[in-house]
Amino acid sequence: MTEAQASPPDAPRAPSAEPKKRPRVFSGVKPTGTLTLGNYLGALRNWVQGQREVDPIFCVVNDHAITIRIDPEELRRNTREVAAIYLAVGLDPEHCILFVQSDVPEHTGLAWVLNSVTYYGELHRMTQFKDKTAKGKLEGVSAGLLNYPILMAADILLYNTDEVPVGEDQKQHVELCRDVAIRFNGLFGETFVVPKPVIPKVGARIMSLDDPTRKMEKSNPNAGSYILLTDGPDVIKKKLARAVTDSGSEILATPDKPAITNLLTIASALTGKPIPQLQEAYVGKMYGHLKKDLGELVSETLKPIQEKVATYLADPAQLEAILDRGAERARAIAGPTLALAKKRIGLGWKAAAR
Ligand code: AMP
Ligand code: TRP
Repeated sequence: MTEAQASPPDAPRAPSAEPKKRPRVFSGVKPTGTLTLGNYLGALRNWVQGQREVDPIFCVVNDHAITIRIDPEELRRNTREVAAIYLAVGLDPEHCILFVQSDVPEHTGLAWVLNSVTYYGELHRMTQFKDKTAKGKLEGVSAGLLNYPILMAADILLYNTDEVPVGEDQKQHVELCRDVAIRFNGLFGETFVVPKPVIPKVGARIMSLDDPTRKMEKSNPNAGSYILLTDGPDVIKKKLARAVTDSGSEILATPDKPAITNLLTIASALTGKPIPQLQEAYVGKMYGHLKKDLGELVSETLKPIQEKVATYLADPAQLEAILDRGAERARAIAGPTLALAKKRIGLGWKAAAR
């Protein structure tokens, strides 16, 4: 396997003669719309923080985006924007492999192979599928929406991934991927590395600003329920000022205060201060104080990111060159894995494949 391609020249070397292999990390975000603060805190930020200790691959998973109806031009725009966000938050293309999924056809190739070892019942049980088809309305639900976790398993397994950093909502899909890998290995012989999900301690599930029992997501029809990474300071402050709160007035992260808990979680994730320390600092203060401080904090955090996104989007040739190079490096790893899986299952049929 051409693993050497994944090790950049600046990779830190372990002092021992036997260099310790860094864990291979793979993750991605769907370009179905502009990303939210939930995507940032649950996923992106952790990818950036951990990138030096691992062997990282991050993908704009646009093949996943077509499982729901999306305007082609919007999909192209979102794909570029998500790639620009990856770079703007600090993923280093010299160190990470960054690419767009549809540029690496091995993903859909392996997904077809894995279709044969994934059961309908398993897919049907996925919480995300059940949520998206709530009230039993299956009319107009694409087969892709049901099969989506198979493509996600292919994404992960192609790269011999050890760790998959995601928010809480994706844990179930990574567990299905493990089951599929173990099943394939058992049926056809050792082929895939069995990955594990890595969920952040703080920020794994940022809740909606209008309803703290639902996760913050861009598909919510109420724009006041989420903060987008592209929102300007005034919009951010207004959305936080209008965020629902709980009864009482103390600023505490307790089970009877889900809305305040969510705001404290965001503050903790952004400042790195533990929640008890924040609670201490807000003794005797009102909910409004917390919301105002948070408005400043979120705006300050997003401002430099937004400026960098604009710079990357203004230079499409540079962006494409980075992603082309990433796709080339990705294919060098994905190609041999797909070939091995096809050989194991009998699709690699020529004498040389045996
Ligand atoms: P998606 O937008 O569904 O492609 O999600 C991309 C990544 O962001 C996944 O790792 C999700 O688990 C994570 N994520 C999405 N929404 C949230 C949220 N509200 N809180 C924390 N993480 C999230
Ligand atoms: N399904 C993930 C989500 O909705 C996105 C995704 C696709 C992904 N392929 C992946 C995440 C592989 C991690 C690894 O958030």
